[in-house]
Amino acid sequence: MNNSRDRTSADGGGDGVPTVAGRVRLRTEPGAQVRTVHETVAPDTVRQSVFDINDMGVQYGSKTALAHTTMKIYRHLVTAIIGPSGCGKSTFLRSLNRMNDSIDSFRLLGQVLYNGHDLYAPGVNRVEVRRRIGMVFQKPNPFPKSIYDNVAWAPRNIGLTADLDARVERALRSAALWDEVKDRLRTSAMALSGGQQQRLCIARAIAVEPDVLLLDEPASALDPVSTAAIEDLIGTLKNRYTIVIVTHNMQQAARVADRAAFFSLDRTDLVGTLIEYGDIKTIFGNPRDQRTRDYVTGQFG
Ligand SMILES: Nc1ncnc2c1ncn2[C@@H]1O[C@H](COP(=O)(O)OP(=O)(O)O)[C@@H](O)[C@H]1O
Ligand SMILES: [Mg+2]
Repeated sequence: MNNSRDRTSADGGGDGVPTVAGRVRLRTEPGAQVRTVHETVAPDTVRQSVFDINDMGVQYGSKTALAHTTMKIYRHLVTAIIGPSGCGKSTFLRSLNRMNDSIDSFRLLGQVLYNGHDLYAPGVNRVEVRRRIGMVFQKPNPFPKSIYDNVAWAPRNIGLTADLDARVERALRSAALWDEVKDRLRTSAMALSGGQQQRLCIARAIAVEPDVLLLDEPASALDPVSTAAIEDLIGTLKNRYTIVIVTHNMQQAARVADRAAFFSLDRTDLVGTLIEYGDIKTIFGNPRDQRTRDYVTGQFG
């Protein structure tokens, strides 16, 4: 399949160059310091990667928000994206389902492969991308419609109207919300509590049976009980979906994720970049990079 290196050639974006096992040396612009990302476990050769991200960068006009990010995201794992505010976590996540395309100044460098296909290749159907790669945001954002119509919205949009009642029920059950709403499906979603609204947004995202769920701080606006419900839900959903979750809550990352990617701002140019990526126990228990250690032990951020 055609790739889109032509989008990046003007920017000197290099490929990730594997060196010794577990380390990836990244080629950068001439004269720039070579960045080393520690991958703390050897790349998983058994597990299938869903995203294969090669030297990805994001610019908003003249501002570079993210640079030189190379990593794989594996199927049926929960991958946590952690790091201080402004380091590009949301930018990274939104670039995985082309949510940033609506921003005029947005420009993607490098390459994002989704199941082996270039997500940014010309001709890629963005509606299809969003169907396969669903997203839930920090602030619950149900539509001002009934609970039923919220969940039925995306299936209706793409013509999945056969057995719609069953589909809605399935999504609400999967989102652990069915028992709480089954007797009031036709009432407004806006009357639900914040935690229920967020589970409704998850139901809405999974109603079209996506492959991947992107969650951007999905519990940070919720009370502890609702947060626990979302975390439990993530634990059950991971059997069926590949989940990427941005969180600033380290305990939450440790509870829900299998792997974590720590992003930070480069000291010199204040551009977000991937510092370290590995299994969750290593990132929290024995990180290789001092910057990761400082962050996960609460020294900064
Ligand atoms: N639409 C945008 N236009 C310009 N700059 C943006 C835009 N969105 C984010 N940024 C900038 O990109 C950087 C990364 O932002 P973001 O991805 O939101 O970080 P995080 O989610 O880690 O807090 C920040 O400096 C932010 O100000
Ligand atoms: Mg963010």
